[in-house]
Amino acid sequence: MTTLGTPLSPHATKVMLLGSGELGKEVLIALQRLGVETIAVDRYDNAPGQQVAHHARTITMSDPAQLKALIEAERPHLVVPEIEAIATPMLEELEAVGTVRVIPTARAARLTMDREGIRVLAAETLGLPTSPYKFCNSLEELQAAIDGGIGYPCIVKPVMSSSGKGQSKIDGPADVKKAWDYAMAGGRVSHGRVIVEGFIDFDYEITQLTVRSVGTDGQITTSFCDPIGHVQVSGDYVESWQPHPMHPAALEKSRQIAKAVTDNLGGQGLFGVELFVKGQEVWFSEVSPRPHDTGLVTLCTQHQSEFELHARAILGLPVDTSLRNPGASAVIYGGVEAQGIVFDGVEEALRVPGSDLRLFGKPESFVKRRMGVALARAENVDTARANAKLAASKVRPRVA
Ligand SMILES: Nc1ncnc2c1ncn2[C@@H]1O[C@H](COP(=O)(O)OP(=O)(O)OP(=O)(O)O)[C@@H](O)[C@H]1O
Ligand SMILES: [Mg+2]
Repeated sequence: MTTLGTPLSPHATKVMLLGSGELGKEVLIALQRLGVETIAVDRYDNAPGQQVAHHARTITMSDPAQLKALIEAERPHLVVPEIEAIATPMLEELEAVGTVRVIPTARAARLTMDREGIRVLAAETLGLPTSPYKFCNSLEELQAAIDGGIGYPCIVKPVMSSSGKGQSKIDGPADVKKAWDYAMAGGRVSHGRVIVEGFIDFDYEITQLTVRSVGTDGQITTSFCDPIGHVQVSGDYVESWQPHPMHPAALEKSRQIAKAVTDNLGGQGLFGVELFVKGQEVWFSEVSPRPHDTGLVTLCTQHQSEFELHARAILGLPVDTSLRNPGASAVIYGGVEAQGIVFDGVEEALRVPGSDLRLFGKPESFVKRRMGVALARAENVDTARANAKLAASKVRPRVA
């Protein structure tokens, strides 16, 4: 049974978000609506989620001592990681001694923190279909892995990176050194390890949002959202839509894979399972044990967005994953490097039929930083995609 308190009172239900970007901000808003007391943590001040939470804290989340001190000082009921770069072994320690509950579990946060833990679990422990892969610590090992069976084309990614940073495709021997150097420059933590994956020539890729929540019988139950289709450019999502039409056999396989991975990771909450599909064949790519960026589209397509689903599931409340209407999202990049930018064209964007907008409020813009997203609901996905892109194109970020 779940009992919720009153925020800022002795019986408050307290939730701490580790990472307070645009996805964390929406989770925080969903929690606020249920009267949860929220603590938004990030590595810089005035992060999007910090602007809507009861409390804002700025620390280096990859530093175990700082993380421990903050959790012990705040004593939240739940700790909700929103990013990967966190001192997850410390979360495991604190969870093991009962200081805190980590969402979905501290082990899941550790396994998905880098590409290695989750890939080994999926491919070797669970035997799920993935691209062929090898982990390499040097340019020589990379070349040997390619020659030894991965072949061309292939993709190289730093073990610790997200949003396509440091990732590149290798088409032939001439590209290998460039890809290695690029990975070394783009990794989050420079520890010189990469994964090389055989290139999957998929027809399309989807995110299968999967929710583990408490059912009427008090047991954990798994529910699925409609598949989300998306387009990635240089490993970063630029456009997503829901529902993505799928052959029933491919959909069933996708959900079997999603169930196997999320059963193993355990706990309560929403997961974004990334899958590649070709005909009826499905490959597991990776999983986020938290809302997924391509799932921003659910803000305009589902009765409960992925953020509301996450908030409810972690609190032990019932969820409804059903689709309300087709829709799409299109990313708005900063386009400029500046602090405190302004956005022109918002009214034109919102004049596009069925459109909506999220401007994340990030204090600093970079050319390739995601500053907002345009949403559009429509009768069908094609119209929604066109309108989301149109609305996004109307928003013009510029130096103030
Ligand atoms: N083995 C592969 N074969 C074909 N395409 C791939 C492969 N690996 C990655 N990609 C493409 O690159 C995209 C990004 O890859 P991946 O999800 O592994 O990186 P990421 O940096 O974790 O991205 P994000 O954090 O945005 O999810 C994929 O969504 C897919 O479009
Ligand atoms: Mg990905």
